[in-house]
Formats: sequence, C-alpha cells, structure tokens
Amino acid sequence: MRLKDKISVITGAGSGIGRATALLFAREGSRVICVDINEQGGKETVEMLKKQGEQNALFIRADVSKSEDVQRLAEECQRSLEKVDILFNNAGFVIRETFEATTEETWAGMVGTNLTGIFLGSKYLLPLMKKSGAGSIINHSSIDGLLGNPQDAAYSAAKGGIIQLTHVMACNLAKYNIRVNCLCSGGVATGMTANLPIRDKLVAVTPLGRMAQPEEIAYPVLFLASDEASYVNGATLVVDGGRTGITQGTFSRA
Ligand SMILES: NC(=O)c1ccc[n+]([C@@H]2O[C@H](COP(=O)([O-])OP(=O)(O)OC[C@H]3O[C@@H](n4cnc5c(N)ncnc54)[C@H](O)[C@@H]3O)[C@@H](O)[C@H]2O)c1
Repeated sequence: MRLKDKISVITGAGSGIGRATALLFAREGSRVICVDINEQGGKETVEMLKKQGEQNALFIRADVSKSEDVQRLAEECQRSLEKVDILFNNAGFVIRETFEATTEETWAGMVGTNLTGIFLGSKYLLPLMKKSGAGSIINHSSIDGLLGNPQDAAYSAAKGGIIQLTHVMACNLAKYNIRVNCLCSGGVATGMTANLPIRDKLVAVTPLGRMAQPEEIAYPVLFLASDEASYVNGATLVVDGGRTGITQGTFSRA
C-alpha cells in the first residue's frame, strides 16, 4: 500500500503504460482518475479497476493538447476531489517522420500532445495538487528525447522538451513540496510499437534483448510517485533495458 489515501490523475490511461500504471496504483491504495482522448479505452480501464476493487475510479475524457479540455478536466476534478497528490503526464503518440518529411501538421500534433499536454495538465491541476500539501508529478519522455531519433524528428524534439520542462518545474514547484521527475522509457510492447517496422532492430540494440512490458514501466513510475522517492526531484529516470545508459546506443547483440 505505497500510495494509501492518495489521489492520482493518469493521462493516457486508456491503454498501454497508462493503463498498467492505473491498475498498479490502485493496487497500492490510490484512487485513480483516468484521462484519455479515447473514451472506449478509458472506460475499459475503469471497468478493470472496478473489477480489481477500486470502486471510486473515474474516467474523464479529455484531449490533453486542448486547453479547453484540460480546463474542463480540472474543473471536474475540483468538483469531485478534495485534492490531487499524483499526476502522471503520460498521454502521447508518435508519428515517425524524418526532419525533411515532417509536415507542419505532424509538428503541431507531436508538440501539442507530447509537450503542451504536459504543460496544460500540470498548469491546470496545480491548484488541486497544492491542496495536497505534497505531491509528485511524473512526466513521460522517452529515450528519443534523450538521444534524438532520426526516424521521428518532431516526437524526439517534443520528448526532449519534456526533460527541460521537468527541470524547470522541479525548481518552481519545490516550494509547494511537489516533486517533478521525468521518465525516459525505451521500447515498450504497447499499441504504439505494435507495428513498428524496426522492432527487431530495436531489440538487437537492447542489452536485455527484449522490449519492456507496460508493467515494467509502471513500477518505476510507482517509485517516483511514492514517498520512497521523497528526495528525488528534477531527475530523469531512464528505463530502457540498458540501451542508452550503458552503451550510449552503440550496443548490438549480434
Ligand atoms: N511504447 C513505447 O515504446 C514508449 C517508449 C517511450 C515512451 N513512451 C511514452 O509512453 C506514453 C504512453 O504510450 P504507450 O506506449 O502506452 O502507448 P499507447 O498508445 O498504448 O497509449 C497512449 C494513450 O494516450 C492516449 N492519448 C494520445 N493522445 C492523447 C491526447 N491528445 N489526449 C489524451 N490522451 C491521448 C491514447 O488514446 C492512448 O490511450 C507516451 O507518452 C509515449 O510517448 C512509449
């Protein structure tokens, strides 16, 4: 029960890593508010939470890239919750285009959801987090944000921006006892990577020789969310099977 009596908001909770984290957080005692643009996925997660015994789980549909949606989300939270302790800014998606192929539409979509979504979610939920007296925000970046991936220029730029936004937020929000950290995941077996053409290549450059399961990302998120990480602030936690930290991306299993 590492999150006993906590209230968590998880964006992108309708599938993949967000769903796995919602289920884990609930098992650890947290009430979970699931946010997603995908109504069906979000409601499915809530059903799964209820089957697990979390009767207070709630789904709120919102597009995190749209200010009016996020403001409505914050208003709904303000009406039904006394506070928010944990915010996992996880919603995201990728369009894989090299720099030259990147359209303005792709750029706006990648920055809008992956980076602006974190700004908006944190900005409008902050008043409820301040009410908690202590809190943890976890921003989901990627190893593409660390190294830059030539196959997805706009996504890499947006995910890189998250790392610096995390540093700034960690400084600005520490006075409220709100810690802000960032997670850089490597390849994770979710809908996002299901049809990835370079999946085998990716596994070959990962020392652990496989992709992560969503639960293997949820546990590090749980650590950052919990009081066990009470002195961890402004950190970038890399969870990538050894792909970048040890080898700087040069490793090959072949
Ligand atoms: N899967 C990986 O290999 C990997 C690696 C590094 C980082 N990540 C990051 O993990 C996060 C979760 O991805 P996942 O792998 O679980 O993929 P996923 O597609 O299973 O889940 C992403 C969820 O975000 C939701 N979403 C997308 N845009 C949204 C928006 N504008 N507003 C609200 N919800 C929105 C989707 O509907 C979906 O439910 C993303 O930020 C992604 O960039 C994933």
